[in-house]
Amino acid sequence: MTTKSQELMHWIDARFPLTSTWKAHLSEYYAPKNFNFWYFFGSLALLVLVIQIVTGIFLVMHYKPDASVNASGIPVAFASVEYIMREVPGGWLIRYLHSTGASAFFVVVYLHMFRGLLYGSYRKPRELIWVFGTLIFLALMAEAFMGYLLPWGQMSFWGAQVIVNLFSAIPVIGPDLSLVIRGDYVVSDATLNRFFSFHVIAVPLVLIGLVLAHIVALHEVGSNNPDGVEIKKKKDASGIPLDGIPFHPYYTVKDIMGVVGFLIVFSAILFFAPEGGGYFLEYNNFIPADPLKTPPHIAPVWYFTPFYSILRAVTYPLFGVDAKFWGVVAMGASVVIIAFLPWLDRSPVKSIRYKGGLFKAILAVFLVAFFILGYLGVLPPTPGRTLVAQICSVLYFAFFLLMPWYSKLDKCKPEPERVTFK
Ligand code: HEM
Repeated sequence: MTTKSQELMHWIDARFPLTSTWKAHLSEYYAPKNFNFWYFFGSLALLVLVIQIVTGIFLVMHYKPDASVNASGIPVAFASVEYIMREVPGGWLIRYLHSTGASAFFVVVYLHMFRGLLYGSYRKPRELIWVFGTLIFLALMAEAFMGYLLPWGQMSFWGAQVIVNLFSAIPVIGPDLSLVIRGDYVVSDATLNRFFSFHVIAVPLVLIGLVLAHIVALHEVGSNNPDGVEIKKKKDASGIPLDGIPFHPYYTVKDIMGVVGFLIVFSAILFFAPEGGGYFLEYNNFIPADPLKTPPHIAPVWYFTPFYSILRAVTYPLFGVDAKFWGVVAMGASVVIIAFLPWLDRSPVKSIRYKGGLFKAILAVFLVAFFILGYLGVLPPTPGRTLVAQICSVLYFAFFLLMPWYSKLDKCKPEPERVTFK
């Protein structure tokens, strides 16, 4: 550094902890040296979060949350999205970046969570990272759900109608609660306005706060790794973990490689199949919302379908309360139970590399059940499909609830002293 820039740094450091923060979180933050590609997805989730915020800012410049119809009889909100797509320079790109970005967000976050499952990243001392993560996942679902109402297409309208009606199944407070959420007796302009407000400011603020807490918690305890070995247990004379390397430049460069790979795949989808064959933006959503015309089949976007299947799988009333209510409870529980993983897993080792066949087999069954639930969630229900969804829902919950038992029973290999690295 030249003397001038050194002087400037001293001036800043005397007023703001720039150099010390850079050192503590990047150049002298030691991460395990054996990260593999599964460790790309945290930084990719950050990247997609930034893409969503930046494209969202530009969309809001032209979008109008207004359910009233214009002179051509088209709802203003719907027409404003079409205006973005056809008239605003580059508007189609901004809109597709945002709508395809929503699906990309869930792909990245699901893979990121799966990595946690593979390597036991939720285990002590990373319980809070995981709990913040589950809260992020919940907030992300709320964000995506409310965003989907904004184009005011048929699926926006009827999807919101179905989901908000679910709340009315809650005994005593249900009907009032769904009224508060809608702001009206039906999904209407009032609903569109409050969902807009939550989607553009309230939930993103919560999301950003939770992501900060997630990373602060991570930097407090340090990253796990594919071996599940705590690198802080073995340090050299100067207190640096023997298996650690500085995050910058090693992992900043590695993460850039992940970003490049992601952008290649993401652009291919963005430019050649931005609607994902009706899975990212459903075909029905290119028809303006019509409260008088219920579409024959209402399905949520793919990332909600495993949980939606669990909701529909509950068909029996219990304790005199409607099956719909228990469906809502089961759906809520299927997400919340994820937060309890740190206390359900009693295995002596963290990583799947040292876990036994029992855990691997049960994890495989869980994955298959989760995919089947996801697939069934996009299809209209039939008695046969409902039965399959019921079996898969039981398998889904069994994975979590029986974990204290089978994770102890599993025959694990001994964990190595140091990370394995070639
Ligand atoms: C907006 C969404 C999210 C962002 C931006 C985010 C960001 C990050 C980043 C940057 C890391 C460090 C790099 C890495 O280990 O890949 C990380 C680690 C971690 N995240 Fe997330 N995350 C998100 C959602 C989640 C969710 C939904 C969960 C789980 C429910 C989760 C669980 C974890 C865990 C357990 C770690 C530590 C992993 C380890 O050390 O092996 N995260 N996250």
